[in-house]
Amino acid sequence: MTPDIKPFVAGNWKMNGQRDSLDQLALMARGVDEALFDKVDVVVCPPATLLYVATTLSEDTPLMVGAQDCHREAKGAHTGDVSAEMVADCLGEFCIVGHSERRTDHGETDFHVAGKAQACWRAGLTAIICIGETEAEYDSGRAEEVLGRQLAMSVPEGATEKDTVIAYEPVWAIGTGKTPSPDDIRDIHAFIRDVLVERFGGHGERMRILYGGSVKPDNATELLSVNNVDGALVGGASLKAQDFLAICESYRKV
Ligand code: 13P
Repeated sequence: MTPDIKPFVAGNWKMNGQRDSLDQLALMARGVDEALFDKVDVVVCPPATLLYVATTLSEDTPLMVGAQDCHREAKGAHTGDVSAEMVADCLGEFCIVGHSERRTDHGETDFHVAGKAQACWRAGLTAIICIGETEAEYDSGRAEEVLGRQLAMSVPEGATEKDTVIAYEPVWAIGTGKTPSPDDIRDIHAFIRDVLVERFGGHGERMRILYGGSVKPDNATELLSVNNVDGALVGGASLKAQDFLAICESYRKV
């Protein structure tokens, strides 16, 4: 954790969830009460098809809703894409951009990611900008070089703690059950903090840096106890309300 930064837990449902998953969303909305919200900000990012119904279900609760991606343009001839303005129109407040699965599946570059982050800001959304090295990059000791480049090119000028959250997700830890050691996470998050402070001054000091990759109820507390880990971006364990709320609860107690 970072003193004075409110922890933040985001659930990324990825391409999972149909209407029959809405009972899980309703349970999450019920579970994120004022007492929890007092200590932790909680966001769930369902697929775009469920976005509007998710914001409706969480209306009048502190649970917040986000999307998993957006186009850099506000509207136009881009078949199949969703704009940040459309997310805002569905009452979403956040949008994940630059997830490694989009970088791999859709060839998104840092340049695209920066454009999407700016689109989020234009629409009044907070961008959750993902960065992360591959296993080969990690094994060859190039993690910081890769992350430094991603931070420099994916995070646009002028980012603040209000419109931007950084999520460090080592690609090799996503969905694998593997996580870096707490010492490794501490070193990488310290590196990310230094880069953010150098570029954005006080905003960089206050910007939340999440860890993502195989976060589960049983390792959440240990991970959040690491310096400069201000929360989690949770994939698989965010699909079930019980697991997701258990992670949020453990963050409340830290
Ligand atoms: P898992 O928690 O399933 O490893 O996924 C992490 C992730 O990619 C969240 O964006």
